[in-house]
Amino acid sequence: MILNKPEITRILESLLDEKDLIEIKNKIKDVEYSISSFRTDNLGLLNIDSNGETINLKKEYLENELGQILDTKTIERSKYYIKRLLKGISEIKTSKINDINLNRWKEYDDIITDSLWILGRRDNSGAHSAEYWGNFVPQIPNQLLRRYTKKGEWVLDPFMGSGTTLIEARRLGRNSIGIEIQEKVAKIAREKLEQDKTIFSENSRTEIFIGDSTSLNLKEKLERIGVPSVQFVIFHPPYWDIIKFSDNEKDLSNAASLSEFLSLFGKVVDNSLSVLDTKRFFAIVIGDKYSKGEWIPLGFYVMQEILKKGHKLKSIIVKNFEETKAKRNQKELWRYRALVGGFYVFKHEYIFLFKKER
Ligand SMILES: C[S@@+](CC[C@H](N)C(=O)[O-])C[C@H]1O[C@@H](n2cnc3c(N)ncnc32)[C@H](O)[C@@H]1O
Repeated sequence: MILNKPEITRILESLLDEKDLIEIKNKIKDVEYSISSFRTDNLGLLNIDSNGETINLKKEYLENELGQILDTKTIERSKYYIKRLLKGISEIKTSKINDINLNRWKEYDDIITDSLWILGRRDNSGAHSAEYWGNFVPQIPNQLLRRYTKKGEWVLDPFMGSGTTLIEARRLGRNSIGIEIQEKVAKIAREKLEQDKTIFSENSRTEIFIGDSTSLNLKEKLERIGVPSVQFVIFHPPYWDIIKFSDNEKDLSNAASLSEFLSLFGKVVDNSLSVLDTKRFFAIVIGDKYSKGEWIPLGFYVMQEILKKGHKLKSIIVKNFEETKAKRNQKELWRYRALVGGFYVFKHEYIFLFKKER
């Protein structure tokens, strides 16, 4: 909701001189009543024309803060909450890695901070679609970009696929670079980006390179487009050979063995991190695989490779995994196989979050 900033500030500041807790609560109740509907606004809080200076905040946030003041038992405590609300209204406090206003952190209730992600339906808005086999749900880059980047910063996705990260980056006002080994896939991503009607950030830049992320000279490529470095990298590699993406021998899905897969992935990581700012974050989205009656913990193998390189592990997120159409049809069969084979059917994958230490 949009409020008249000088009015609400004046009311709250005047309460800081008040000596009577009942009086404070009565005035807070008036504010509560005022914001509950346009027609009953007798304090002028919703009158945005008077000074032209406004604040935009979530109604629930304000209601929650006012409720907390009303619940206090002492005048000191009520003034503590009033001061906090005043700060929330007047000052913006952000960390070095995102735009979340920490003075109003309660407003961001859709930003996940738990390590278990149960994501609902795939976001299919605009150009997003589930068509590209092996793509991830847009909610993944959406969550990560809001947590680990600021508007106007650069994001790198060295396994771009259908461009989910790039679409999301543009919607959020971030610049992005995608690398994809398959020319035809990169072309589709480019077309999707051009078509996306929901993209509102005109100023964001999007760059696509066709090539092999293990060896592409990223420093030179970035220099050519006038970008000194990136501030976040999101890796969504093939889960080794579960889906064969192309016939290209540099495609990670064609690695002949687990050690070759890990070595190729390590090269992509080294190459990508050479352009990532120190002390910034990167995420790896990966699932495990099942082969010849054995669970192959690809996620943990990959995590181990990165730890060996000296980067700091910040979180292991377990994310639910929606069945693909093909799997859904075979649900009964998989359940039967699990019961016979003594294993569990995959329902999760991982997001490993690291901080580049040097
Ligand atoms: C799991 S998919 C990524 C999907 C993507 N996140 C999306 O939402 O569409 C992995 C992609 O990496 C590409 N790829 C595999 N090896 C590569 C390499 N060496 N360099 C660049 N891209 C590669 C594949 O062609 C595939 O499109």
